[in-house]
Amino acid sequence: MTSTSGRPAILIARKVFPEVVAHLQQHFDVDMNETDDVLSPQQLAQRLQGKVGVLTTGSERVDAALLTACPQLKIVANIAVGFNNFDMAAINAAGVLATNTPDVLTETTADFGFALLMATARRLTESEHFLRAGLWNRWTLDMFAGAEVHGSTLGILGMGRIGQAIARRGAHGFGMRVIYHNRSRLDPELEGACKAAYVSKEELLREADHLMLVLPYSAGAHHAIGAPELAQMKRTATLINIARGGIVDDAALAAALRERRIAAAGLDVFEGEPKVHPDLLTVPNVVLTPHIASSTMATRTAMAMLAADNVIGFLTQGQAKTPLNPEVLST
Ligand code: GLV
Repeated sequence: MTSTSGRPAILIARKVFPEVVAHLQQHFDVDMNETDDVLSPQQLAQRLQGKVGVLTTGSERVDAALLTACPQLKIVANIAVGFNNFDMAAINAAGVLATNTPDVLTETTADFGFALLMATARRLTESEHFLRAGLWNRWTLDMFAGAEVHGSTLGILGMGRIGQAIARRGAHGFGMRVIYHNRSRLDPELEGACKAAYVSKEELLREADHLMLVLPYSAGAHHAIGAPELAQMKRTATLINIARGGIVDDAALAAALRERRIAAAGLDVFEGEPKVHPDLLTVPNVVLTPHIASSTMATRTAMAMLAADNVIGFLTQGQAKTPLNPEVLST
């Protein structure tokens, strides 16, 4: 469907960088939500009337109800590598192309995973709060004594591109022993490059000094780390979640942290975010960040540009750089 100007019309569902808007405006009539407020499903359906494409973020759900209300939609381009906001069965059934933004955020996200691991193990925010509160009046030998990072065992649950980038940092940068668990084992060549050994989930939980979660969210991954899994971890272990809210049972984690059944956690993602489980706000041994693992200006711009390129490529030439359901391209 085209707009009154004769050009296809698209929607940008959230505020994005001006250069991304300008890039899209070369090809389309662009309607955009110029705020950081999330459109409700009804508002989204309404704004999508007459539009053939949309740039979404993880906050907008694309499901059968939306697709039925917007039958002219041809492409949904997520500005995120994760796409659990997409009902892929409904999108496939509607013959709509879905795209995400892999690769451009891999190294930046792995950097952040390591930042969160370091901050958690070495009690960075806890000690800063102590200092800011004016409580530092003497030095003591065991002051904020944390967990060793170099030479320790790094466990990685989910060994996709980001997991591998974290493994390389741990093995090559910090001399860590790296073990991982994944649905499928990596090729020996990749395992060698990451210096990572494949283990069962049970062994991963038991052996890791630092357990990093990097797996995609799916119904099967819901509460992959809950009370039973936390109980298998070392009491000295740290848990880092840069994957998705819902993979960890946040209530169970808060209880484990309060009772010191594990030493500490670093969390960038939460169940029901931007809400955070109130119990997590009251335990000291957790580092909390607001879903910013890929957030550098360069990377967030690259993600939005890739989503824009997918929309432009598909609507002008029938091609997309990072399709999730490429079968749609050949129909
Ligand atoms: C962020 O969480 C992403 O999926 O890119």
